[in-house]
Amino acid sequence: MSLSMPFTFDPGACFIGGQWVAPANREQLSLSNPSTGAELCQIAHGSAADIDTAVNAAQDALDGEWGRATALQRGRWLAALGKLVQDRVEDLAALEAQDVGKPLTQARADAVALARYCEFYSGAADKVHGDTLPYLEGYTVYTLREPHGVTGHIIPWNYPMQIIGRSVGAALTMGNAVVLKPAEQACLTALAFAELAQQAGFPPGAINVVPGLGAEAGAALSAHTGVQHISFTGSVQTGMSVQQAAGQNVIPVTLELGGKSAQLVFEDADIEAAMPFLINAGIQNAGQTCSAASRILVHRSIYSTVVSKMAKQYQQLRVGDAMQDFSIGPLISEQQKQRVQSFINNASDLNCVAEGQIDSAASNTGFFVKPMLFADVPAEHALAQQEVFGPVQVVMPFDDDDHALALANGTEFGLVAAIWSRDGARQMRLAKKLRAGQVFINNYGAGGGVELPFGGVGKSGHGREKGFEALYGMSALKTVAARHD
Ligand code: NAI
Ligand code: MG
Repeated sequence: MSLSMPFTFDPGACFIGGQWVAPANREQLSLSNPSTGAELCQIAHGSAADIDTAVNAAQDALDGEWGRATALQRGRWLAALGKLVQDRVEDLAALEAQDVGKPLTQARADAVALARYCEFYSGAADKVHGDTLPYLEGYTVYTLREPHGVTGHIIPWNYPMQIIGRSVGAALTMGNAVVLKPAEQACLTALAFAELAQQAGFPPGAINVVPGLGAEAGAALSAHTGVQHISFTGSVQTGMSVQQAAGQNVIPVTLELGGKSAQLVFEDADIEAAMPFLINAGIQNAGQTCSAASRILVHRSIYSTVVSKMAKQYQQLRVGDAMQDFSIGPLISEQQKQRVQSFINNASDLNCVAEGQIDSAASNTGFFVKPMLFADVPAEHALAQQEVFGPVQVVMPFDDDDHALALANGTEFGLVAAIWSRDGARQMRLAKKLRAGQVFINNYGAGGGVELPFGGVGKSGHGREKGFEALYGMSALKTVAARHD
């Protein structure tokens, strides 16, 4: 085992009911370090039996101390957790860099974001409330926001800490008890989160973590009759299975399924201001980002200028070991590398205008791919339609606002979009017409935006995470109508 481990938890265990326990089948899965391809450590091969134990532990927590805690107390536990996370940013970042292959700077930003989610939601816990409603003479009517109960969280490997922050953080704020199934490719910071939550004082069973395979532990969680809400982030295909399983129990699901997000650059844009956003939003986390700006749409009058500026920057990009903090690290797995490679192989007819380089010292068994920039990509090409999940961006020209809009809205996804223009009327008009859950004007991503509701339309999913909106989704509204004459 080559893992450098700054926490005390056993990476091969599940965290259930406040205890670190071996999985029921005693089996382990292998976790690899994407920068080398070598085994990093072994993790629990959690199964349906462990999910069942965890759901029961969560229900016990709801029936016990956790369920009785006031909103104020839940907020204080979250605040304590946020402080512990903030104190351990370097340790969490080192763990994530080894597990996900995420360059240290980006891993650090994820840990800081997790702390920030805890901070934001700690302050919100006692500020979400119902209404009193005018009704008939002789009635008093009010609404209560109650927890769903046990919430299941199936998360991917690309941003474990941020997704835990936005999804588990919101669920805990509203008093739900959580069962978290991290991805089999990366689950160490989920376990570290459980360790820190225990130190912060969360009662046993409020937070349970069961690592395991999607088709086993993930499927068991999404079908479990003791679960009252599922949050899922990942592929469209798996999201559909999760929604179908949850449908059998008629429970709500939040699905965040990625996208093919576009940045629209108009002839009056501040190109210099746009440039870092155009590129970083595409290559951040090696392009393995649900909201990656994988399509850059540029007005024909400035098209060749933007393409050549982007190409110049692509040539400077270096890919290498996550611990050495290059701007781009490896992909998560050999499988994802093959997937991205096959997109590139199928794009041999396209105009690749620039590529970056893999550092000569990078291990040849690491899961590295070169960043590649393609120009003049036809709108119907797979590279312009499908989520590649690698450091690959396409640039396409447009002739006018309507053409830009048609291209931007011309995929089955709708997660994020950006408008680069100085024309206020155009900004407002297009912001309304873009099919996306978030639209940015003269920026992209707004620094992570813990406060900003996030989620998609179309095959990017449904439901909203982040901000107060997440807290409404993570609670059930009860209307109480009292007749008193
Ligand atoms: P995936 O959707 O299969 O995995 C995400 C999570 O779902 C993991 O925790 C996995 O264990 C779990 N899972 C898998 N099968 C399941 C099932 N039948 N029931 C319940 N849970 C299940 O995604 P994968 O295979 O890791 O990546 C494939 C593609 O999905 C990527 O290339 C990318 O395009 C997309 N993706 C999008 C993400 C996003 O942030 N929107 C994150 C990860 C992947
Ligand atoms: Mg999968």
